[in-house]
Amino acid sequence: MPTRSILAGIGAYLPARIVSNDELARTVDTTDAWIRERTGITQRHFAAKHETAAFMGAEAARAALADAGALPSDVDGIILATSTPDQAFPATAVRVQAALGVTKGFGFDIAAACAGFIYALSVADAMIRSGQARGVLVIGSEVYSRILNWEDRGTCVLFGDGAGAVFLTAGEGSGTDQGILSTHIHAQGTLGDILYVDGAVGQPDKPGHLVMHGREVFRHAVTRLAEAVEEALTANNLTAADIDWLVPHQANRRIIDAMGRKLGLPAERVVVTVEQHANTSAASVPLALHEAWKDGRIKRGELVLLEALGGGLVWGSALVRM
Ligand code: COA
Repeated sequence: MPTRSILAGIGAYLPARIVSNDELARTVDTTDAWIRERTGITQRHFAAKHETAAFMGAEAARAALADAGALPSDVDGIILATSTPDQAFPATAVRVQAALGVTKGFGFDIAAACAGFIYALSVADAMIRSGQARGVLVIGSEVYSRILNWEDRGTCVLFGDGAGAVFLTAGEGSGTDQGILSTHIHAQGTLGDILYVDGAVGQPDKPGHLVMHGREVFRHAVTRLAEAVEEALTANNLTAADIDWLVPHQANRRIIDAMGRKLGLPAERVVVTVEQHANTSAASVPLALHEAWKDGRIKRGELVLLEALGGGLVWGSALVRM
């Protein structure tokens, strides 16, 4: 039996401050009805000053280690997906390493926007399967509230802050197919201008705000994610009927529903958190996974399909036997 990456524990962190659509509508030219109808979102969490990507990532990671019954000394490496790092460098992952009291191994960030967690999971899984590490924290942590353009009602109502984490451990010889069965990641850089941040620390006088051509992103999201789902199933000789749970990126209720229909899954088998969290980018998949794990919906032995798409365009899937 080859080495597999087992999802030993899952954790999450959400800022205490909850902002409803109605509260947003006091300062943004929008309505609760518009946001609900177009996206499904009813509220989002916004970070306080101290709730940076590193702070929230460390909290989520701590919770994932506790869930796994693991210690900081079990961590061989930390891979953190974010588009809103605390600093250009050092990587947010090494800030998390210090906060957790981890004293060995590696730490680096991955910038793959809303697909960041799937990308990070893919890299961590490859490292575990190749024997480079036995315990890897994979974290998605984002503070999009800091990069939103509050003059653009087409984007500022869509995002929220938070962090999610999983602790992956090397497992073998169990005689079961538990763990990450496959990951697939993709990029199409020619579509880089339909969803992006118009600045960064390397740009003169441009901290940057999120810019999105929503309709185009929507169109590509539905097509690409459907392909990604098909790719994951084909690679594992499975059919949609084998999937117990779909945990999709939480950008828009309509895209999520379209994916559920495509797989023929009943609505209750699709984990949806976009109503409460809005789009938390790289944190959205682990936050949703954590929600359904914590409340006992997702159980050991079940087959879970994760998928996400984000600015790049970048997208991907991971198929996991819990
Ligand atoms: N409140 C009220 N009205 C709004 C609004 C808001 N927050 N945002 C946009 N509008 C208005 C527009 O001004 C436009 O008005 P007009 O027809 O008078 O010009 C109208 O609503 C339609 O705007 P449009 O942007 O075409 O809406 P849409 O139906 O495409 O929905 C999104 C917008 C963003 C919800 C949708 O495109 C979407 O979900 N895209 C994918 C987003 C996504 O998944 N992104 C993340 C990927 S990681």
